Amino acid sequence: MACIQISGGCPLCGEIGLQGSKNAVLPMLAASLLIPGETRFFHCPDIADVRAMAALLQKLGAAVSWDKGVLCVNAAGAHPVVLNEKDMADTRGCILFLGALTARFGQARLAHPGGCVIGKRPVDLHLLALKALGVVIEESEVICGRTKLVSGAEIVFPFPSVGATQNALLVAVLAAGTTRLHNAAKEPEVVHLCHFLNMAGAKISGIGTAHLEIEGVGKLHPLDYTIPPDRIVAGTYITAVLAAGGKAFLKGADVGELFSVIEPLKAAGAEFHLFADGILVKRSAKARLRAFDYIKTEPYPGFPTDMQSQFVALAALSDGVSIIEETIFEARFGVVSELKKMGAKIYLNENKVVVEGVLSLSPETLIGRDLRGTAALLVAALAAKGESRVFGVEYLMRGYEGFVENLKALGARIEFDAL
Ligand code: UD1
Repeated sequence: MACIQISGGCPLCGEIGLQGSKNAVLPMLAASLLIPGETRFFHCPDIADVRAMAALLQKLGAAVSWDKGVLCVNAAGAHPVVLNEKDMADTRGCILFLGALTARFGQARLAHPGGCVIGKRPVDLHLLALKALGVVIEESEVICGRTKLVSGAEIVFPFPSVGATQNALLVAVLAAGTTRLHNAAKEPEVVHLCHFLNMAGAKISGIGTAHLEIEGVGKLHPLDYTIPPDRIVAGTYITAVLAAGGKAFLKGADVGELFSVIEPLKAAGAEFHLFADGILVKRSAKARLRAFDYIKTEPYPGFPTDMQSQFVALAALSDGVSIIEETIFEARFGVVSELKKMGAKIYLNENKVVVEGVLSLSPETLIGRDLRGTAALLVAALAAKGESRVFGVEYLMRGYEGFVENLKALGARIEFDAL
């Protein structure tokens, strides 16, 4: 089984560029099914989740090709096909084909989606929105959506689900009439999807707020779109530099999107220089970070759940006691047992961890069990003096492009071992 070998304790210095955002491109790939022509995705990350979505688009009859790092999708000849359990197993993003297929063909038939196991991941809010738009849903082992005509609707989400907001948008842009989404998710990836759809001819207003208004249009047209940098990947590299020490410039990192990540780190003593074209992060080997008083994951603009594991790894090395509460996913503390093997003092109580920082972590063989958790273990291993091996590479590949190469470029002693 493949693993990553790290000889930790070496400061990270230099400059790296950032890949395109996974969570931004996945819904756009589903949206490309609505466009009868060629859509070109520039700065598209070459990661397993994108490959999985692209393979499904092919299965649905779209022509898909990579041309010098640009992903091209031509859905002109697409047709509805059943997406089975195997098709839906790899990435959670596949659930967006429910909206896309229904909007384009008036019918969808797909299995429940897979993705990282970080707690129950129901799709009731997706179904609520689609039903309100006139889609008849039957749910058994597979989810079936059918409609002759989708029409605008007034939808109030009980919780601002990112995926449900995106699925509703995919249907509403081609619906007859106006749709209003209230308590919609405000995550940057929803904002990017709205911009993408508007560039394709959709009429969405209220972008970036919890109230989106969508005036249905007859059709969308092909476009070229540049995928924005990945805020979670940027956040992960920030935590890597702070764990190992050093000074690195993350070219392209979006300061605005990372506010809730940077603020607690600044309060803990990390040094940041924010520029229009990126972020410089710095920690000298002598200056230990202070503990985070209390961090709680929340919908955007709150602290992102996708950075929680990496922060637990940092807290394990900080001076004092940190409390980190997970409010979005119910089982997202898979890293705790692994960090404890390294000597971390972490006490898990339901959806909260109390972390008593230690001076150093010991190298270990570690097992990653989800995407961000594996990244967090690599962050911890970069700080631990000596040889660590981190398994779970298949999860890492879902969202990080060139992780090992980028860290090598910053001076880390890190190797991919295919075993
Ligand atoms: C997206 C991101 C994921 C991120 C999450 C929260 C993608 C591909 N994934 O996931 O990386 O961690 O946003 O920022 O963009 N829920 C329901 N019913 C539903 C839908 C969601 O109860 O129908 C619950 C979920 O179980 C979870 C919470 O709502 O507890 C948040 O989920 P949601 O915002 O939908 O996240 P995803 O779109 O799955």
